[in-house]
Amino acid sequence: MVLEVLVAMGRHPEIQRVRRVGYDSLRPTAGQRLLDAGSGAGDVARLLAATVGGDGDVLAVDYSASLTAAAVDRHDGSNVRYLTGDVSALDLPDDCVDGVWCERVLQHVDDADRAIGEMIRVTRPGGRICLIDTDWDSLAFDGMPAGLGEVVLAHVRGNFTPRQHDMGRTLRRRLVASGLSRLTATPVTCFFGTPESAAVVLPMVNPQVPEEVWATPPGLRDEWLACVEAAGASGTFLAVLTIWVVTGTVPG
Ligand SMILES: C[S@@+](CC[C@H](N)C(=O)[O-])C[C@H]1O[C@@H](n2cnc3c(N)ncnc32)[C@H](O)[C@@H]1O
Repeated sequence: MVLEVLVAMGRHPEIQRVRRVGYDSLRPTAGQRLLDAGSGAGDVARLLAATVGGDGDVLAVDYSASLTAAAVDRHDGSNVRYLTGDVSALDLPDDCVDGVWCERVLQHVDDADRAIGEMIRVTRPGGRICLIDTDWDSLAFDGMPAGLGEVVLAHVRGNFTPRQHDMGRTLRRRLVASGLSRLTATPVTCFFGTPESAAVVLPMVNPQVPEEVWATPPGLRDEWLACVEAAGASGTFLAVLTIWVVTGTVPG
């Protein structure tokens, strides 16, 4: 289930747009060794492997043993090595990679600065680190009753989204504090014009997300989803969410 959700998200045109921004700022080249930190299904790791080619390679590290196994099953023969591990305690030597990609992972870790410190440690001086993360506080809807939207947003912020709900907009300051140079910070505002498109990325409009995950006061989820469906039917549904792409160069 997690695998299918991740794969569907990765195929969404708005997530692909975010990834293109990340790709352009990381600027991977042939022959590099790259780390995909929190690699999920491994799709980005394989994309990066296509760029670094036969003389380079990609280390795909994820905390979840089952996702790592699924990523191995999806392997396409490119130069990717899949490892189970924690981005906050990487089992890799210092200065061993030319660059790092870390997409929508730090919002889930307890200590993002520690994880960033690990990514810097394993990256050679002059290497690039590309962090991509969501600012869940930016989530907004139009086309739904205003009062209801506010109640639902307040609920999802506290109960539904990852604990580090503001991670995206904190990335730049974290890299500044870590001493990285040549920073770029790009907020990509993802637009969802139908409930079906939004449901791929936003669990709070996905009718398949069950009541127990919502943990809402009785009836709120159903009332909200009925409004989402009605807005979709009338063509007035709109959702926006900003995902940040922040990249910097390791000094030295
Ligand atoms: C939203 S998914 C993103 C996966 C992938 N980067 C992508 O963009 O498709 C978050 C991923 O972070 C992984 N993750 C969470 N905490 C982690 C940690 N401490 N170390 C390594 N991976 C972690 C999860 O297992 C999951 O695969």
